[in-house]
Amino acid sequence: MSDTKNTSYNIVSLIRKKRDKQALTKDEIKHIIDQYSKDIIPDYQISAFLMASFLNGLNDEETSALTEAMLYSGQVLDLSEIPGVKVDKHSTGGVGDKLSLILAPIVAACGVPVPMISGRGLGHSGGTLDKLESIPGFTVSLDLDRYRSVLRKHNLVLIGQTEEIAPADKRLYALRDVTATVEAIPLIAGSIMSKKLAEGVDALVLDVKYGTGAFMKSQEDAIRLAEKLVSIGTSFGKETIAYITNMDQPLGYKIGNWLEVEESIDALLGKGPDDIMEVTHLLAGTMIYLGKKAASVEEGIEMSKKSVEDGSAFQKFIEITEEQHGDSSYLKNPSSYQKATVIFEVKAQKDGFITEMDAYTFGMAGIELGAGRRTKEDKIDPVSGITLTKKIGDAVEKGETIAICYTNSNQVQHLVTEMLENAVTIGSNQPEISPMITHRVDANGISDY
Ligand code: URA
Repeated sequence: MSDTKNTSYNIVSLIRKKRDKQALTKDEIKHIIDQYSKDIIPDYQISAFLMASFLNGLNDEETSALTEAMLYSGQVLDLSEIPGVKVDKHSTGGVGDKLSLILAPIVAACGVPVPMISGRGLGHSGGTLDKLESIPGFTVSLDLDRYRSVLRKHNLVLIGQTEEIAPADKRLYALRDVTATVEAIPLIAGSIMSKKLAEGVDALVLDVKYGTGAFMKSQEDAIRLAEKLVSIGTSFGKETIAYITNMDQPLGYKIGNWLEVEESIDALLGKGPDDIMEVTHLLAGTMIYLGKKAASVEEGIEMSKKSVEDGSAFQKFIEITEEQHGDSSYLKNPSSYQKATVIFEVKAQKDGFITEMDAYTFGMAGIELGAGRRTKEDKIDPVSGITLTKKIGDAVEKGETIAICYTNSNQVQHLVTEMLENAVTIGSNQPEISPMITHRVDANGISDY
């Protein structure tokens, strides 16, 4: 970490410099983040800096400087006393994306320590913490000593970002959320990597999504983001591999917190949908390879599949749930979970084939049902959400059920039905199904998958 050499920078001059498309130095960026963390620079000036960065971009050096400044705004955990190569995975977020719940136990069961620090739902996309907390009693708030001891005992720990982990990112993120400055590649890259580098991992696998349900709508932007993430990870000495994956339709068949836990249980019991299992085994196999328990990604994938077949991955999920005070009886017997009071179906409007299922709108409909937050204060309703009965490529007849909605609200049926009817396009020809995984990006560059 470099110290700020000059503490007499004028913040207005720094904002002006970025506004006028000039590059800031590493010290200038460090100064901005340090002074903001100490409440010396107010929100309105940081907002101006964020908007100037959003509009004019940050080059690679500026992005690394931002990442480093946010990383060292808190603690950088040292897990070196825990044996093994520690590996985590991060997804840039999507709809129905419950892969962390499935792959973390798989990888841990294969002998690779997984220290996972996850986030909550953000906008239309769900969050791992909210899903875990739908398991009654499950706590994601562990202090850092417990974080270490749980990881050592189980090869796995699942927690949320603490006050100690990249606090500058936490504050900046909240500000970006309300100043329309989230969707900027350098800001996203700095935000993700400052958190991931702080958690003490040795290697990282990234799932960078593109499509209607992702933050990056185009494949080109997802590739640019992946390249940035990999280059930051590599420059900090962490082996980092990213995959570009499709998020044009929801992942799997279930959207909503407990519903996604249910689908994760199915996946861990060997009954997961194909799209989920394809990406899960690839990401898990890559983590197992990076964790040095397999000689290749392919061998890692085989180990991942075996841990599902022999039940060890599901057993690991039970074990970590119990360790983190969750009631594992619901995992063993999901049908005993509380039920939504209002259940309704959305029907096909005509005969044909489903050609589009706008993942973004499915995510937003999930929020209306109670599965996400509109404001920071909103409470999540764990049982609400959507189960799809059809996916892109399926044939439907007019009046046939496409989705079943679950909620405890009496007021959303009309709105959600309209949203979902509009989110589904039915055509007369069966469409080609887009591949789930399109590219791999690592320190050597990009390759087709
Ligand atoms: N996820 C993050 O952690 N940060 C971003 O900026 C976007 C997604």
